[in-house]
Order: sequence, then structure tokens, then C-alpha cells
Amino acid sequence: MSDTPATIYLKDYTPPAFLIDTVALDIAIHTDFTRVQARLALRRQAPGSASALELDGEELELQALRVDGVALPAERYRIEGDKLWITDLPDVCVLESVVRIAPDQNTQLSGLYRSKDGYFTQCEAQGFRRITYYPDRPDVMAKFVCRLSADRAAFPILLANGNPVAQGAEENGRHWATWEDPFAKPAYLFACVAAKLDMLEDFYTTTSGRRVRCAVYVEPGKLDQCDHAIAALKKSMKWDEDVFGLEMDLDHYMIVAVGDFNMGAMENKGLNIFNTKYVLARPDTATDTDYQNIDRVVAHEYFHNWTGNRVTCRDWFQLSLKEGLTVFRDQQFGMDVHSAGVTRIQEVRTLRAAQFPEDAGPMAHPIRPESYAEINNFYTATVYEKGAEVIRMIHTLIGQDAFRKGMDLYFARHDGQAVTCEDFVAAMQDASGLDLTQFKRWYSQAGTPCLIVRSEFDAAARRYSLHVEQQFAPTPYEARMEKEGLALPRGPYHLPIVLGLLDADGHALPLQLAGEATPASTQRTLQLRDAKQSFVFENVAAEPIPSLLRGFSAPVLLDYPYTTAQLVHLMAYDGDAVNRWEAGQRLATEILLAGAKAVQQGHSGSDWIPLDYIHAMARLLGAAFVDGGDPALVAEALMLPSENVLAEQMEVVDPDALHAARLALRRTLARDLREALLAAYLELKIDAPYSPEGEQAGKRALRNACLGYLAELDEPSAQALVIGHFETAGNMTDSIAALAAVANLDIPARHVLLDSFYSKWRDEALVVDKWLQVQATSRLPGTTQDVRALMAHEAFDIRNPNKVYSLVRAFCAANPKHFHAADGSGYQLAADVILQLDALNPQVASRIARCFDRWKKFDAQRQHQARTQLERVRAHDGLSSDVAEVVGKALE
Ligand code: TRP
Ligand code: ZN
Repeated sequence: MSDTPATIYLKDYTPPAFLIDTVALDIAIHTDFTRVQARLALRRQAPGSASALELDGEELELQALRVDGVALPAERYRIEGDKLWITDLPDVCVLESVVRIAPDQNTQLSGLYRSKDGYFTQCEAQGFRRITYYPDRPDVMAKFVCRLSADRAAFPILLANGNPVAQGAEENGRHWATWEDPFAKPAYLFACVAAKLDMLEDFYTTTSGRRVRCAVYVEPGKLDQCDHAIAALKKSMKWDEDVFGLEMDLDHYMIVAVGDFNMGAMENKGLNIFNTKYVLARPDTATDTDYQNIDRVVAHEYFHNWTGNRVTCRDWFQLSLKEGLTVFRDQQFGMDVHSAGVTRIQEVRTLRAAQFPEDAGPMAHPIRPESYAEINNFYTATVYEKGAEVIRMIHTLIGQDAFRKGMDLYFARHDGQAVTCEDFVAAMQDASGLDLTQFKRWYSQAGTPCLIVRSEFDAAARRYSLHVEQQFAPTPYEARMEKEGLALPRGPYHLPIVLGLLDADGHALPLQLAGEATPASTQRTLQLRDAKQSFVFENVAAEPIPSLLRGFSAPVLLDYPYTTAQLVHLMAYDGDAVNRWEAGQRLATEILLAGAKAVQQGHSGSDWIPLDYIHAMARLLGAAFVDGGDPALVAEALMLPSENVLAEQMEVVDPDALHAARLALRRTLARDLREALLAAYLELKIDAPYSPEGEQAGKRALRNACLGYLAELDEPSAQALVIGHFETAGNMTDSIAALAAVANLDIPARHVLLDSFYSKWRDEALVVDKWLQVQATSRLPGTTQDVRALMAHEAFDIRNPNKVYSLVRAFCAANPKHFHAADGSGYQLAADVILQLDALNPQVASRIARCFDRWKKFDAQRQHQARTQLERVRAHDGLSSDVAEVVGKALE
């Protein structure tokens, strides 16, 4: 932890002076300390030069340092902060070091740390330096051998990357095991585990005949919650072979679940370490969403084996090289194994909820930033989700076949290397023949571009034109870079606009661009390159309705003056599921913003809710039950835009007015559609045994959405329905849907249900997280005090990231009414937690601090409250670089 975060620049990249061929580690875990011996076979990159060896080390107690077997005299090395420099080394030599570390005291969960069932590691991005002195940078790739030893009774399982090569007993009841990884890798992919765990295994045979052992290790007693993760792993292995021709390259693929983990999961070579949240599932403990998330995270980490591990990043500025691409791959997997439409809609929703605000706020950065203070702060929605959108645009522009050729070329060129985003784009360009020079602006420009589209119809000439203008205003990022002397040129983006045109009957028109002899199809991918560009369609009989950016073909904002009637038409007839949903969201947004204004002006009625919208929603609900209807898509369409997403559309955010308007619209829908909602609720009941698969999950999603609306009716019969739903629920999806609904109701049953849920599940950590979350996101008055009280409850533990995320982050990020309370009580709670956590786990503290990102969008009183708390945090002595960077940028 450093107090003044130094800025690191991409332009300062220099290759390492020394490479490492092999690393032999000996990690001896004892009760009070762990001793790590490392033997590095070093080789100077430029033989004959005098460059010093630069090693990283954090919180290490150095006990010995030897070069080629000889103890290194003090004048040959220098320790400065977290660096160790060694001078006058021969071009080729062996460096041995011995350090002591204290994993039991490691609350940051970076490096080697203690969790309930044993010892685990997390080395990305810079955790390996907390284990031993090492050039902790991804462009140093070495082959690792690791010997682990620990008490056998307490920690019977000893694991590291690669293959087990030997094991045995030591004195005092200890045992050891040696693992060898045949692939060279950067230190961030190192992992080891010494713990008491149960194991479930299965086998997968690759197309070329390798029999891979797939093993999942979990806390003792949880073997009945592992089946889904194993199945997801085998599905992922098959998918990557089918779609990208990529096979598993090791004999052992292990997943270890740990309850204390900062993020979702980690792709360490052959030994993934997962947050339990993305492994454990049983119908009575996990929701349909949990099951889907497990599929996706297992796939994500598995896909990293090629995109991340076999080909890795040259430096951390290239993070999106592996993350954007791997998220894109797990999204494609999700679309193939689940429902394409629903999956894409959920991704668009996440992008709007998390990435658009980030790109409009003080932490805005391009998917490849030019500078950072703390790399852990750049595992962001931008690098991950927008990064995936950028890859998706390449895929859309060049098509699946050329994209596959580009991937093949990328691996042919770079297998075993640490490379840059340019290298990836070059492979795609060379394989497709499409010039991607302009496209690369997506890697260097921050901010969400806006497309202003206007249409023009010439009835006499039967000609329809779309005039598109791109806006790409600079963000605080560009201003900061300029201040730091980095002038970044900005220019228009190259992006795909996938579109269709609908006639008045809802038919898709054949699209004939000016200059073409005949129409090509009813959906086209147009390439936008200019700041202003027009697209002209011929032979158009009557003015059509444009369906723009189908499938959300580019991560942009769209300004097109749709009328209510046009949106209602698109909601019903658009051939693209994403755009049917999008039309509904757009209409709801307009209505809710008008409603918020009405609330601000003191209107108590709901005359701002157009009947057309109610009728459209009624038709949507009915469409779930006709032939070819999809309840999952209808469930998505019934969900109104969140208060946070709506807030982005307001000049000055009024969280109370937005909340009131959204609730009024939900209540109106519930009242006006009550019969249909109730009928749907009854009709969608599932009698078959639980399965997390799409068909059942879709029905449950719609059924629970109907229940949610009915719960808004302030009536005993509706409340009885919710309580009955809870009492008869046969799975966690239904239980938590009822509990979330009742958590918003000020009725005696609220406490009864919450208490009974807690007593039933108090020993199941992941279910307790859900219990905390429904309370943290309640709209009832007093929620802020409830959250404070829950922080003192036995169920809460500030050292456990999942608990902090479920209670505190859920409150700050998903309860805008209370977090942004005008009296500042929400901000104060957040600041209290940030300060308390910063001393324990800066990565998690910093994620909470991000909840302040949008504080300048609020009114003067709220800004004053937020500033007070941000300044209080910033003034704190010994603040971590993680929180310092976030708070510093927020106050800039
Ligand atoms: N590489 C991981 C992933 O995306 C992310 C990750 C896991 C991570 N643990 C972390 C990043 C700790 C930073 C710190 O799958
Ligand atoms: Zn990843």
C-alpha cells in the first residue's frame, strides 16, 4: 500500500532486462508463517549489457539471496520500497531466494492467503510478488515446478498448476507434493492450494484423443453442489473445439472453490480458483440466474486457456486483449447454449447499467488506457464488457468465417507469446482483408459515442435515406491525458449498423441500397466510418420504420425521433428480439422521464402514462402464450429500465422522483393488467422436477415477474399470493423472488418470512448473501439503518468480499433511493465502510468507492453531502493506492 499513487504509462513500456527459463518453488506452509524458496534460471535479453535485474516483492521477509550458489553480498543488491535490484549479474545465472510470508495475516486476498478450509492463491494482477521476489510482469514467461508442503491432517489436498509428479511424507505429520506445469507462463497465472477439500471428478476426451481429468474441489460436505460446474466445464471444452477448433492442452483441469475471493474466478493454468458463488449450485440453494452465471464463468475461465494463457498480454495496458476477447467468447457460448435473444438482452442491460455510466464519469477510460495508478482499478466494465463489444463489432464487420480465420492466424503467429491489442487486430485485418486502421480508435478513445440518425422519405422517387451523424465528445480522461502531456487525437469511429426496415403491417422490407440492381435481403450490415454519412435505399413504396443497431451492433447511444406509435409497432413486429425489447425500453424511458418531471411538479396523478403503452404491455404478455411465444423474452420486456439507467438520462438526477415515477408505473401496470398477470401466474406453474434449463427458467422468470407486479397491489389477496409463493416454493428461484417482493412490503409477514429464511439457511453462506441482498435493496424507509444493523449481525463479515458485495455494494449500487438520500446518510454509510475496509482489503474498498462515480450529476445538496464523504475518505492517513485513485479522480 502506498499513499501517493504513481502513474504508470503505456508509452514507458520497456522489455525486461532478464528472461526466466525455469522457476522452482518450494512453499512450506507452517502454522505461523510460510517459507518460500525460489530458484530462478535467469537469462539476459541483451547479452553483454550491464542492465540490473529488477524484481518485485511486497510484504516479504528476505532471509537469503544466492547467485549460482553463492550468498549475495549486501553491496550487490538494493531494496527500495517494493523493488529489489541486483547489479553485476552474469548473462546466465541461477538466483535463489528464501523469504518468509504471513498468509494468515493476508486480508487483501492477493498472493497466498488463508481461508476457512486452507490456503489459496490469487496472483493476478500483481499478487505473485507477495509470494516471492520475482519480475512480476506478464511478458516474463517461465516454466514452473512447485513443491508444496503442509500438515497432512489439516491440509490433505496439495495442488499447483500442471501435472502431479511426486509426493511423500515429511516428519511431524507433514506431507509434500510436487507439480510441474509443461507450459511457460507469466507469474500471474501461478496458483497453489493446500486445504481440506472434497473432490468430484469426471473425464473429457478431446477430438485428438487426450483424456482430460476434470476435477472440482469444494469445502467438505458440498459435493452435492458440484454437478452443474462439471457439466459446464465439459460443455465449454466441447464448444471451444466446435467453434474455434481449440482443445484442452493438459491432462488435469482443476477448479477449486473458495469462499473468500475478491472477484468471480481466476484462470490459473490448469488450476482455476473460483469464488464459491460461481461453482456451488443445488436447486434449493441456487437460482436460475446463478446456474447461468456458473455456465458463463466456468466457460470464461476455461476459454482463457487459449485467450489469455497460451497467448497472454505484454503488459497490463493490454488487459482487454484477453478479457474483452474472452468475455466475447463466453457471450457467444451463452447465446449458443442458452437463448441467443435473452442472453444478448441481458448483456446490453449490463453494459448500460455499468459501462455507460463509467464511460460518462470520472473513471472514464478507453478499453486500452494510456495510464493507470493502480492496475486493480482497471478490471472494469469498460475493459471487460465494452472490450467484448469491440471484439463483437469486428466479428460483425468481417463475419464468422473470417473471424475464425483471424483467430487461427492469431494463434499461429503468437502461441506462447505475450502480445498487444495491435497484434490481435492485425491478425483480424490480415485474415479478412478489411482495413481496421480507423477501427482501432475503439482501443484509444474513451466515452460512449452517440449516433444522431434522421430519416428522409421521398415518396415520388420511392427513396428512403438515413442520415447519420456521430458525436464523440471528449471525456475527463482526455482532459487528464492532455494535462499530463499526452495529446490524444480523436476522430470518428468505424462501426457496423445492422438494420432492417418495417412497413406499416410489420413486414420486413427488402433492402436495396442506391446503386444496387436488386434488393439483397431484409437485414443489412452498414459500415459507418464518417462523422456524417448517409445511406440511401431505393424502391421503397411507403415511409418505413427503421430498426437500427439490431442485436445492439455497436456500443453507442442512439438518437432517433421515434414516435410512440412507431415504438409500439417495433415492440410488436421487429424481427430482431433485441430491438423488440429495445423499443419497449425506449418507450418506457420516455414515459418515466416524463413521469419524474410530473412528480417534481407535484402532480399526484398518473396521466403521464399513455394508454398505448399499457395496451402494448398487455399484448406482450399475451404473446408469451401463443405459438412460438417465448416467456423468457416477455419477462425481459416486462422489466422496466432501472432507476440508475434512467438517471443517466437526466440533466440533474432526482432519485426520489425517478423512484416515485417508476413505482407508479409498476402499480399502474399491476392494476390495469391484474387479470392477465394473475392468469399468467397460474398458467406458468411448473409441475415437472426442477431444471435450470432455458425452457423452465424462462417460465419461472415470467411467472416471477408477474408475481412482482401483483405484489405492488396494496391488497391482502396479493400479499397472500406472495406469501403462498414463498411457502410452496420448490427451488431458490421462487423463494428469493417471493422474499425480494415481501422485503419491499411493510407488512408483519415481512419479518416472519425473513426470519424463517435465515434460520433455514444460516449455514449456507451463499444463501445468506441473498438474504442480505434483498434487505439491502429494499425500498422501505429505514433501509439504511437496517443495513447498518445487518453489518453488526452474526451473518455479516467485513473480511468476506461476498458479504460486502451482497450487503454494502448492493445498497450503494442497486438502491439509489436510499444510497442517494438527500440527508447524506447513504453516502456516510459507504464512506464508513470504505475506510474500515481499506485497511483490510483495498481492492474491495475501491470497488465500493466506485459507487460515488456519478456524484456530480446530482443536486447541490447531494453533491455537498457526497463531497464531504469523499474528502473525508481522501484525507485518511495511509489510504491505499486503490481507493486513492478512485476518490482522487472523483474529486478532480
Ligand atoms: N482474470 C480474472 C477473470 O477475468 C479476473 C480476476 C480474478 C482478478 N481475480 C482477480 C483480477 C483479482 C484482479 C484481481 O477471469
Ligand atoms: Zn477474464
